[in-house]
Amino acid sequence: MLSTRFTADGSFSLHSDRFAEGFHSSGGALQEANSKFVLPAQLDRFPSGCCLRVLDVCFGLGYNTAALMAALPNAGGPRLECWGLELDRSPLRLALAEPRFIDLWPKHVVAALGAVATDGYWQDSLRQHSVQMLWGDARQELQNLPKDLQLDLILLDAFSPGKCPQLWSEEFLQSLASLLAPGGRLLTYCRAAAVRNSLRHAGLELRSLLPKAGEKSEWSSGTLALCSKDRDQTPPETGPGWCGLSVMEEEHLQTRAGVPYRDPSGTDLAASILKRRQQEQALSYRPSTSAWQRKWGLLRQA
Ligand SMILES: C[S@@+](CC[C@H](N)C(=O)[O-])C[C@H]1O[C@@H](n2cnc3c(N)ncnc32)[C@H](O)[C@@H]1O
Repeated sequence: MLSTRFTADGSFSLHSDRFAEGFHSSGGALQEANSKFVLPAQLDRFPSGCCLRVLDVCFGLGYNTAALMAALPNAGGPRLECWGLELDRSPLRLALAEPRFIDLWPKHVVAALGAVATDGYWQDSLRQHSVQMLWGDARQELQNLPKDLQLDLILLDAFSPGKCPQLWSEEFLQSLASLLAPGGRLLTYCRAAAVRNSLRHAGLELRSLLPKAGEKSEWSSGTLALCSKDRDQTPPETGPGWCGLSVMEEEHLQTRAGVPYRDPSGTDLAASILKRRQQEQALSYRPSTSAWQRKWGLLRQA
């Protein structure tokens, strides 16, 4: 069951009863798409004529792909090849029935969202943009992406690890990381230690998304994971809206919160993945996360 709501920036969003969670932070669905996905992606790295390959994991209402398309130049930008993974067709349908959602986007973006909702595919020969949906469980659908695909951007926007651990497991994140091109980036709102550790285990370099201006109490608004397979190029330490992990964040990864979610078969239910992790945490010699929180004065944000 999905219920509709408007976020603080006036943009339309949904709440899922099944996952007991909102689709976006209450601060703003559009604001989140722009600050956590579009800005740190640095689209100006992709010049005219080159190909920008993007995977939107958990397409939902389509905010992240739509905001990315809207941010690309109207003419003379990169060719966009985008794939969307999503279990449920209804969030996009509900969004397209809401005039205030439609009003957020340029015409070609609305056309793209409309076409993928009905046909699962959209192509614009003028801009040379395409969007292809793969409907189903992202863990299985990942195997239906083109062979040898090398992605420039992965936008990972699943429900939180506690609610949807299937899409934050060591194995799933490893599969996503293996799809990144040298210099490619995985972006997520998630700053969980378990997720960051899994991204690091997958060979990616971690950066922290900076909290929104004025949100002093927050220590990070997400994670940028860089693929540095290209040894000649040292990945940048800072960029727009992101910087290296602080000492506090590095220490967080050493605590019990850093124990990864595991889903060896790629088919486990959330409850089994959570139980397996609890058992591993109980046997772990890692320092407790509450001691880390006390040390850094974070107990109220736990
Ligand atoms: C936080 S919402 C995504 C918000 C979305 N990025 C947007 O801009 O609206 C999470 C989405 O994950 C989808 N989802 C949940 N489990 C999934 C799975 N195993 N595979 C693919 N999608 C899944 C839900 O249907 C929901 O649309």
